[in-house]
Amino acid sequence: MKGVILAGGHATRLHPLTRITNKHLLPVYDKPMVFYPVEALVNAGVEDILIVTGGNNAGDFLRLLGNGREFGLKHLNYTYQERAGGIAEALSLAEHFVDGEKVVVFLGDNVIEGNICQAAREFEAQECGAKILLKEVDDPENYGVPEIEGEHILRIEEKPKAPKSRFAVLGIYMYDARVFEIAKTLKPSGRGELEITDVNNAYIERGEVTFNILEGWWADCGASIDALLRANNLVAKTGANRLNL
Ligand code: G1P
Repeated sequence: MKGVILAGGHATRLHPLTRITNKHLLPVYDKPMVFYPVEALVNAGVEDILIVTGGNNAGDFLRLLGNGREFGLKHLNYTYQERAGGIAEALSLAEHFVDGEKVVVFLGDNVIEGNICQAAREFEAQECGAKILLKEVDDPENYGVPEIEGEHILRIEEKPKAPKSRFAVLGIYMYDARVFEIAKTLKPSGRGELEITDVNNAYIERGEVTFNILEGWWADCGASIDALLRANNLVAKTGANRLNL
């Protein structure tokens, strides 16, 4: 399975911290934010990784991560996003790299206490479709929120005013290679972006989405300054990307 880390965007919710630099280069406790998703993928046995970034700091990623030796990798792949058009648009840039395989897409600002090893194993065995990860949160209105009935997700709503559950859809998604065909059919949302939630809803309509509830804490560091502070404190307290919780 291949891995794609999305590390572009304007990160306006973190201004003025991100006026000059890319969000994913900011520190989360003792490491730059982008280190955490790389390590999480490596923990799950994903070693063929593409970093998608853009803007003025793209070269900094190359200098920072190099060929991934620090993470036990032989090589890292990079691609450049010429304009920020949403998560699904950024993902489209990975089509050539993924080349018909399954893929784990990790948003570069998502940090987890534990690991995605079990979810990755299960998805490898899943014939086709998608797997998403969920976590119960206090502020679901800030995320993609699933409406769940028993073992099934009926629909996901992006940042709903009246959330239909207490769960957030994490920025960690597993897809078969048809994700690129689905992405091509999307129309920009109200905020002018191709939404990953629309990709997930397309898979839900086909009845091909499974989900796991993540163990341990989860932080979307880009959600707000407070979310970034919380992530720093959590990493300082417990560490991230632990193989045994
Ligand atoms: C994105 C997704 C959202 C998801 C979140 C997780 O939101 O659109 O569904 O819950 O990532 O980090 P964004 O942070 O880009 O607004």
